[in-house]
Amino acid sequence: MTKFKVKDTRLASQGEDSIYLAETRMPTLVRIRNRFEDEKPLKGITIGACLHVTRETAVLVRTLRAGGASVALSGSNPLSTQDDVAAALAKEGVNVYAWRENDKEYYECIRSVLDYRPDILIDDGADLIVTTHSEKIDLLPKVLGAQEETTTGVNRLKAMQEKGALKIPVVAVNNAKVKTMFDNVYGTGQGVVAAIGALNVLFAGKTVVVAGYGYCSRGMATRSRGLGANVIVTEVNPVRALEAVMDGYRVLPMDEAVNEADMIFTSTGCKDVVTKSHFKKMKDGVILANFGHFNVEVSVKDLEELATEKRRVRGYVDEYKLPNGNRLYLIGEGRLANLVVLGGHPSEIMDLSFSVQALTSEYIIKNRGKLKNRVYEVFEQIDEDVARAKLETMGIKIDSLSDEQLSYVRDFKLGT
Ligand SMILES: NC(=O)c1ccc[n+]([C@@H]2O[C@H](COP(=O)([O-])OP(=O)(O)OC[C@H]3O[C@@H](n4cnc5c(N)ncnc54)[C@H](O)[C@@H]3O)[C@@H](O)[C@H]2O)c1
Repeated sequence: MTKFKVKDTRLASQGEDSIYLAETRMPTLVRIRNRFEDEKPLKGITIGACLHVTRETAVLVRTLRAGGASVALSGSNPLSTQDDVAAALAKEGVNVYAWRENDKEYYECIRSVLDYRPDILIDDGADLIVTTHSEKIDLLPKVLGAQEETTTGVNRLKAMQEKGALKIPVVAVNNAKVKTMFDNVYGTGQGVVAAIGALNVLFAGKTVVVAGYGYCSRGMATRSRGLGANVIVTEVNPVRALEAVMDGYRVLPMDEAVNEADMIFTSTGCKDVVTKSHFKKMKDGVILANFGHFNVEVSVKDLEELATEKRRVRGYVDEYKLPNGNRLYLIGEGRLANLVVLGGHPSEIMDLSFSVQALTSEYIIKNRGKLKNRVYEVFEQIDEDVARAKLETMGIKIDSLSDEQLSYVRDFKLGT
């Protein structure tokens, strides 16, 4: 089998520079790497990963290898791989199968990773784990555990668990507090501003429709409002809709919201959030961008069917002309816009998420044989350790409870 498959190995030195810069902004993960180098907690372990192949992922891969693991890696989205980073990893000896614009061979690359017979799976969206269950069932007894990076992946794996189809233990890395509360909220929030801002589009005075009011979308709503946009939220969950109302947003059904929209951002993990009937009602010039994991939230199929003309007006921005003469602009072919346009979250954010990934790999090894075939939350201590380490690297000190305070907060007898 080929040891790697990337776009162009000559991009390696550019990729090395890019990884170097990410590393300078990922001090928590680098600390873990230094400890892993001494202790080798992952010695002899093969890790199969399906992640967005970004500079930050490269820092995670280096950390896992420093811990003694060998790593095989594929991209977790057809448009999210940074080709220079993939080339740099291949040069370092990582079995990487990833390149940008890989729609056709996406699953081939996942299969190549599984050919290494991994002991641990690290996934983003659950395609690697689901492929193992559907095509490589002989590997399942060997897998000590898997880790899932995103909400959509965790939802898929929980659905597998409910149907009795999950045959390996999985840790929902996405659900760690230091992941969801920061990566999803601040990472995606800034991703909206940076990805759409890169088109030099003004937010101030525009009407932005944000679909969903979950972790990602609340970050998107806050940041859009911060730039002066009027934000409308759409929801299906009454509690989250109420939260949006109390946070001061207008909440409308999508059917009504589209009439006012200048930009529409989706991040629901659901499909067909914006479809043909909505496109027909939109004003001229509306920008459509999806930030949810799969390219099913804005119906690209409907857009293709409806449009009379389509042309690429700049990198990953497609103009669709509708029969009524209006033009709609779709970012990144409806795939995760922040990954397609920007290359993903800022390194400081991925420092948190990938520290949880590294420590969870160590946790799985330490708990070898003890985990059941179900979806686990991240071990609470990992959350606390990562947050504490991150604060330390930021030079921020916090208070700690005195013995007296500790016994007070733990005592039920003391009241009024
Ligand atoms: N772009 C990124 O970098 C990035 C980062 C993290 C997560 N994600 C992805 O973003 C998506 C959302 O993640 P999250 O953590 O915010 O999930 P979440 O579960 O916290 O939020 C999703 C929200 O969308 C709402 N919703 C579902 N269907 C809807 C519909 N049809 N219309 C309106 N609202 C609807 C839900 O009620 C929920 O409140 C997932 O696909 C996740 O994998 C993307």
